[in-house]
Parts: sequence; C-alpha cells; structure tokens
Amino acid sequence: MATGYAAPANTQYVGSLACKACHPEVWSTFFRNAHFKSVAMKKEDPAHTGCEGCHGPGGAHVASYGGRKNIRVFSQLTPAETTAVCLECHAKDLPRANIYASEHTQADVVCTSCHSIHHSSGPRFLLAKQQAELCYQCHEGVRSQFAMPARHRVDEGAMTCSDCHNPHGSFAATWGMGTNQTMQQAAFDVEQPCLRCHTDKRGPLVFEHASVRVEGCTACHFAHGSTNTKLLRRPVVFTLCLECHNGAGTFGRETASVYSTPFSHNLLDPRYQRCTLCHVRIHGSNSDPMFLR
Ligand code: HEC
Ligand code: HEC
Ligand code: HEC
Ligand code: HEC
Ligand code: HEC
Ligand code: HEC
Ligand code: HEC
Ligand code: HEC
Ligand code: HEC
Ligand code: HEC
Repeated sequence: MATGYAAPANTQYVGSLACKACHPEVWSTFFRNAHFKSVAMKKEDPAHTGCEGCHGPGGAHVASYGGRKNIRVFSQLTPAETTAVCLECHAKDLPRANIYASEHTQADVVCTSCHSIHHSSGPRFLLAKQQAELCYQCHEGVRSQFAMPARHRVDEGAMTCSDCHNPHGSFAATWGMGTNQTMQQAAFDVEQPCLRCHTDKRGPLVFEHASVRVEGCTACHFAHGSTNTKLLRRPVVFTLCLECHNGAGTFGRETASVYSTPFSHNLLDPRYQRCTLCHVRIHGSNSDPMFLR
C-alpha cells in the first residue's frame, strides 16, 4: 500500500488509497469529485469521507481481493436505502428540501437517478447529464414546451430548471404554490420563484392586483413556454381577463364576486378588447387603483 494515508489499525476501514490499485478507472477521475476533498487534504476519516464514506468499510473486501457481497454495491440497494446512505451526510446540506415528501422520492426517483458519482457530466453537482437533458429524459412533454415561440430560454442555457424548481422537494411558500405543488423553489424564502428575476413585479405596491399575489403569476402566464406572446395563457388578452371579471364566482372584496367588467366598456369595440392598452399597470400600481397608470 502506498504511504500518506495510513489506514487505521484494527478496524474494518482501510482508507481510500487502498482502493486505488484495483479500481484505477474510478480513481483516475476521482480527484475532480467533491467527495475527494478530504482525501486530498489528507484529513481522511474513512468512516465519514472518501470511498468508504459511501461504500462502507472495505477491510473484508480488500482482504478477499474483491467481491460484491463484502462491500456496499449501490445497484443492489433499494431506492430507500440509497436515499438513506446519501442523507447520512447530506441531510444538513439540504435543509429546506422536503426530500421525503417530494414527488421524486415518492416515485422512487432518488439521488442516483440524477447524480452520478463516478460518471458525471461535469464536476459541479455531479449530475448524470447536463441538467435540462437530465430532466427531459423523464419529462419529455416539457421539452416541447421549451420549444414554443414564447419561452424561457432554458435550452439556450440562459437559465435552468432548478432556477424555478427544487428537484429535492420544496415547501409551498404561497397559497397559489400550495394549490399546485410542483416543487417550485421559493424566491426570497416566501415568494413565487418568478420574483427572483422579475423583481419589478414584487412590490410592495399601493394597489395590488389581487390575482397576481393570490393565484400567482401562473394564473395568467405559462411558466415554460406558450404560443402566445408574453407567455400568456390565452391568445387574446381580454379572454384572459374575462375568466375572472365576469360577475360570476364568490370571491371578492365588496360584492360577492370579482368586479365584472364595467358597463362603460363596450366589449364589441376592438379598442376595449385590448384591456392592457388602458390598464397598463396590470401587475399592480403605486398611483392608480384601476391600474391605468
Ligand atoms: C458519494 C458516494 C460515493 C463515493 C465517495 C464513492 N462512490 Fe463508488 N459508487 C457510488 C455509487 C452511487 C455508485 C453506483 C454507480 C453510480 O451511480 O455512479 C458507485 C459505483 C462504484 C463502482 C462500480 C463501478 C462504476 O464505475 O460504477 C466502483 C468500483 C466504485 N464505486 C468504487 C469506488 C471507489 C474506489 C471510491 C473511492 C475512490 C468510490 N467508489 C467513492 C458512490 C460513491
Ligand atoms: C485487491 C483488489 C481490490 C481492492 C483493493 C478493492 N477492490 Fe473493490 N472490487 C475488486 C474486484 C475484483 C471487484 C469485482 C467483484 C465482482 O464483480 O464480482 C470489486 C468490486 C467492487 C465494487 C462493486 C462494483 C460493482 O460491480 O458495482 C465496489 C463498490 C468496490 N469494489 C469498491 C471498493 C472500495 C471502496 C475499495 C477500497 C476500500 C475497493 N473496492 C478495494 C477488487 C478490489
Ligand atoms: C460520507 C459523507 C457523504 C456521503 C455518504 C455522501 N456525500 Fe455527497 N458530499 C459529501 C461532502 C463532504 C461533499 C463536499 C461538500 C463541499 O465541497 O462543500 C459532498 C458533495 C456532494 C455533491 C456535490 C456538491 C457540489 O456543490 O458540487 C453532490 C451532488 C453529492 N455530494 C451527492 C451525493 C450523493 C448522490 C450521495 C449518495 C450516493 C452522497 N453525496 C453521499 C459527503 C458525503
Ligand atoms: C430529480 C433529480 C435529482 C434528485 C432525485 C436528487 N438531486 Fe441533488 N441535485 C439535482 C440538481 C439538478 C442539482 C443542481 C441544483 C442547482 O443547479 O442548483 C442538485 C444538487 C445537489 C447538491 C448540491 C447543491 C445543494 O443543494 O447542496 C447536493 C449535495 C445534492 N444534489 C444531493 C442530493 C442527494 C443527497 C439526493 C438524494 C437524497 C439528491 N441530490 C437527489 C437533482 C437531483
Ligand atoms: C428518472 C426520471 C426523472 C428524472 C431524471 C427527473 N424526474 Fe421529475 N419526476 C419524475 C417522476 C416519476 C415524477 C412523479 C410523477 C409525475 O408527476 O410525473 C416527477 C415529478 C416531477 C415534478 C412534479 C410534477 C407534478 O405534476 O407535480 C416536477 C416539477 C419535476 N419532476 C421536475 C423535474 C426536474 C426539474 C428534473 C431535473 C432536475 C427532474 N424532474 C428529473 C421522474 C423524473
Ligand atoms: C421560469 C420558471 C420555470 C422553469 C425555468 C422551469 N419550470 Fe417547470 N414549472 C414551473 C411552474 C411555475 C410550474 C407550475 C405550472 C403551473 O402552475 O401552471 C411548473 C410545472 C412543471 C411540471 C409539472 C407540470 C407539467 O407541465 O408537467 C414539470 C414536470 C416541470 N415543471 C418540469 C420542468 C423541467 C424539466 C424544467 C427544465 C427543463 C422546468 N420545469 C423549468 C416553473 C418553471
Ligand atoms: C432565472 C430568472 C427568471 C425566472 C426565475 C423567471 N423568469 Fe421570466 N424571464 C426571464 C428572462 C431573462 C426573460 C426574457 C426573455 C428571454 O429569455 O428571452 C423572461 C421573460 C418572461 C416573460 C415574457 C416577457 C416578454 O417580453 O416576452 C414573462 C411573461 C415571464 N418571463 C414570466 C415569468 C414567470 C410567470 C415566471 C415564474 C413561473 C418567471 N418568468 C420566472 C427570467 C426569469
Ligand atoms: C391578471 C393576469 C396576470 C398576472 C396574474 C400576471 N401577469 Fe404578467 N402580464 C399579464 C399581461 C396581460 C401581460 C401583457 C401586458 C401587455 O400586453 O402589455 C403581462 C406581461 C408580463 C411580462 C412582460 C412585460 C413586462 O411587464 O415586463 C412579464 C415579465 C410578466 N408579465 C411577469 C409576471 C410575473 C412575474 C407575474 C407574477 C408575479 C405576473 N406576470 C402575473 C398578465 C398577468
Ligand atoms: C385570476 C383572476 C383574475 C384575472 C385573470 C384578472 N383579474 Fe383583475 N382582479 C381580480 C381580483 C380578485 C381583483 C380584486 C378586486 C375584487 O376583489 O373584485 C381584480 C381587480 C382588478 C381591477 C381593479 C378593480 C377595482 O375596482 O379595484 C382591474 C382594473 C382589473 N382587475 C383588471 C383586469 C384586467 C384588465 C385583466 C386582464 C389582463 C384582469 N384584471 C385579469 C382577479 C383577476
Ligand atoms: C379605453 C381604456 C380602457 C380599456 C381598453 C379597458 N378599460 Fe377597464 N377601465 C377603464 C377605466 C377608465 C376604468 C375606471 C372607470 C370605469 O369604471 O369606467 C376601468 C375600470 C375597469 C374595472 C373596474 C370596475 C369597477 O367596478 O371597479 C375593471 C374590472 C375593468 N376596467 C376591466 C377591464 C377589462 C377586463 C378590459 C378588457 C376587456 C378593460 N377593462 C379594458 C378603461 C379601460
């Protein structure tokens, strides 16, 4: 055995260097791995770092010159066991992650479905593939949404899925996010993910458009892509507004419903159909309760 990383005597742990001779393909790339840090700094504590931090004590494995029964082999673990091994160390790294309740864990999509420790696409985050491709392999329908004419530029590399989602699971920060749990990553801990970048929409505003805060951005916009300009959910703006401003429903401030579009508005007049021509501050205003300026 080479020197430098003396294996502790009389324990089953032998230290990472003991693995080098027989697993050169793994070793040859391991120096790039975040899990190599402790080994490189010669601060290895084999029970908690290096190869054996994940694969468990290697004494018996080395003594019998290999084998698959005397070492932890991940392909033989259940998804729950894999999660448990990784969370031995990462439970505190992922403090806000709702990992056990996440849609992924629930569906047996676990750490090693997305992370590849020895064959990652790059050293950062040890992802099995470049991020969008990784997600598309299981979410094929989402790929086509990001190919639509109006879209967030994920495929172009301007942003990633994890700008809006936490694949490890998240807690709903707003009522609107709670109605549609899609592992959205809160911005500023308590806001919808969109506000991290579109900070001008965050306020505080003197006159809020209730729907922006309550239902949230996705009441009117698609998050991924749309065939309509501005990622709108409807091709024509007024059809969007009339979904709520139609006098129906039981939600509102003074009446039993959201204010209906006033009679002063002749909806057959094309001028009136372009609501945001007048209601320009549709996301809320600091000077006008009708969002006219
Ligand atoms: C962070 C946890 C972790 C560390 C540290 C780790 N491994 Fe692994 N290892 C895995 C996982 C998970 C797999 C299963 C395949 C995969 O997901 O890449 C694996 C697979 C393997 C395999 C099977 C062959 C292969 O290429 O997949 C060998 C051999 C191996 N590890 C040896 C080592 C050695 C030697 C070290 C130290 C240099 C080490 N491992 C460090 C998690 C780890
Ligand atoms: C004396 C040579 C030798 C040493 C030293 C050694 N291994 Fe192995 N290891 C083997 C052989 C041979 C196999 C293949 C066993 C098989 O496929 O039946 C193996 C298999 C493995 C596997 C399972 C790979 C798979 O098929 O998924 C893991 C994980 C592993 N070794 C990790 C380690 C770790 C960690 C160390 C250091 C503590 C280590 N090995 C040290 C020879 C060695
Ligand atoms: C023995 C403790 C330990 C275990 C077990 C462990 N890790 Fe780690 N992991 C670490 C340490 C330490 C780092 C480096 C953190 C740093 O550099 O700040 C790390 C880093 C990472 C990173 C990279 C973070 C980055 O910023 O690039 C990923 C991804 C990761 N681990 C995934 C896993 C997965 C998946 C497993 C289970 C197969 C696992 N880890 C098991 C200790 C562990
Ligand atoms: C559905 C895919 C997926 C699963 C499952 C998954 N991860 Fe991740 N993980 C990612 C992605 C994507 C990133 C990069 C996040 C970013 O870009 O900020 C990441 C980042 C990380 C990081 C580094 C950044 C951080 O948040 O600290 C660690 C550590 C990590 N994952 C560990 C784990 C562990 C441990 C598990 C299992 C309990 C796991 N991951 C399960 C996709 C996944
Ligand atoms: C190995 C396959 C796999 C990978 C890789 C994967 N997912 Fe998933 N994902 C699933 C499964 C299975 C579900 C749960 C069933 C469902 O709702 O589609 C899910 C659920 C989700 C949901 C919730 C969907 C809903 O309707 O509630 C989101 C959001 C999501 N994944 C995003 C991502 C992102 C972002 C990535 C990449 C970092 C990713 N996924 C990678 C398989 C995967
Ligand atoms: C700009 C923010 C944003 C980005 C970037 C983003 N998402 Fe989403 N995603 C959302 C929001 C918000 C929802 C909830 C949709 C709704 O409420 O209408 C969602 C819903 C989903 C869903 C469940 C609904 C469905 O359409 O199947 C999946 C799966 C998903 N996203 C995967 C992904 C993947 C994969 C990527 C990267 C390729 C990605 N998302 C990038 C914000 C985003
Ligand atoms: C990581 C930053 C980021 C996040 C998070 C984000 N966006 Fe965006 N958004 C952008 C950028 C940059 C553009 C500019 C368009 C482009 O990429 O070409 C944009 C464009 C838009 C547009 C179209 C503007 C136009 O002029 O066509 C709308 C609408 C929009 N985003 C809504 C949202 C919604 C809704 C969410 C949350 C689900 C969100 N954004 C989350 C960065 C972000
Ligand atoms: C009540 C419906 C509605 C809600 C809710 C809504 N928007 Fe909009 N948004 C619109 C309309 C309509 C337009 C197009 C304005 C126009 O035609 O001038 C627009 C345009 C945009 C644009 C592009 C032009 C600009 O003003 O920068 C962005 C970015 C945007 N919205 C982001 C958001 C974000 C982020 C949220 C959540 C905080 C949100 N929207 C919530 C209706 C809405
Ligand atoms: C998701 C439902 C929803 C959508 C879509 C929506 N609104 Fe609203 N809007 C509301 C609610 C709720 C209020 C708060 C007033 C109330 O309680 O009746 C409001 C208030 C208003 C007000 C101020 C009324 C007042 O007297 O305070 C105007 C103006 C308005 N909306 C215009 C629009 C326009 C224009 C559109 C289309 C771009 C639109 N809204 C889309 C729900 C919606
Ligand atoms: C030509 C400019 C203009 C256009 C276009 C326009 N509005 Fe208005 N809207 C106003 C003005 C001015 C007021 C305030 C005075 C009033 O009630 O007529 C108002 C008031 C409102 C109110 C508040 C009613 C109340 O009782 O508080 C709602 C809701 C509204 N508009 C919705 C819409 C919708 C939906 C559209 C598109 C179908 C639209 N507006 C198009 C100018 C316009």
